Amino acid sequence: MKCRVCRERASIEIRRHHAVFCKEHFFDHMRRQVERTIHDYRMMAPDQRLLLGVSGGKDSLALWDILTDLGYEVDGVYIELGIGGEKGYSSSSRLLAEQFAKNRQLDLQVVDLADEYGFTIPEAAKETRRVACSVCGLSKRYVLNRIAHDRGYDVLVMGHNLDDEAATLMGNTLTWNMEYIGRQRPVLPATSRGLVRKVKPLLRIAERETAAYCVLKGIDYEVDECPLVGGNTGIRIKEWLNQMEAKRPGMKQQFLFGFLDRASDQFADAHQEEVELTDCTSCGQATTSGECAFCRLQVRMSDGG
Ligand code: FES
Ligand code: ZN
Ligand code: ZN
Repeated sequence: MKCRVCRERASIEIRRHHAVFCKEHFFDHMRRQVERTIHDYRMMAPDQRLLLGVSGGKDSLALWDILTDLGYEVDGVYIELGIGGEKGYSSSSRLLAEQFAKNRQLDLQVVDLADEYGFTIPEAAKETRRVACSVCGLSKRYVLNRIAHDRGYDVLVMGHNLDDEAATLMGNTLTWNMEYIGRQRPVLPATSRGLVRKVKPLLRIAERETAAYCVLKGIDYEVDECPLVGGNTGIRIKEWLNQMEAKRPGMKQQFLFGFLDRASDQFADAHQEEVELTDCTSCGQATTSGECAFCRLQVRMSDGG
């Protein structure tokens, strides 16, 4: 196989684009895809203060690398979730994130959930008897926004990729969760006090491409999957979408972008009419009821833990 740009030996094939690229032109392609997404959805500008949620995985590290190459100055924030004990999942991904930042002289801020809020994700999952990923998602969303807001950032940048977003959309469609479908957008504007604008520049990039990008760029990332994913239906939906994609390359992208281009506005309008936000009585962040879900979790953990 030969690179479609320079005809040198190819390193990767991207079937949904009917394209093969050598290493350099693949990097180029990735940068262009991210640039185009940022531009099309008017996500952010280089003079804004940008904070990236960094997990130590392939997506956030690849995105940090690409944004830096594109000339954006982006700080990172890593949330220590306390998963897997001393040498487990959280500490190894944290180490990889720290190494990446150090090598490139980037600013990585670390927030320890246990120190700041008094609990770890395994403790919260045990106490609430909920699937770990659901308390984890809630906590990450809250803490990332809080840090971005309190530290004066204009935009919170997230590493969600095409596979993540297509799987989320499929999951919410299977259950017709109108509220979540209404909120699934490339940009979540800072509509209420306390909420920071949130953007997803990797929308056009598949998981396999961020992995290939890291390998070809020599970026060490956390390869292991989180040990707490049991019960996460998103993973099964991803496998299912992958089977469909293998038969019909481009299907995932068509599903997600068909929604974003043709249907998401209608869902967002319907969602806005339904939901009225008030300030959380404890922390002041926008919420739909008196005390926000994270503050309720925190109270429960301090009572029960
Ligand atoms: Fe959140 Fe695994 S990373 S539950
Ligand atoms: Zn080439
Ligand atoms: Zn609150």
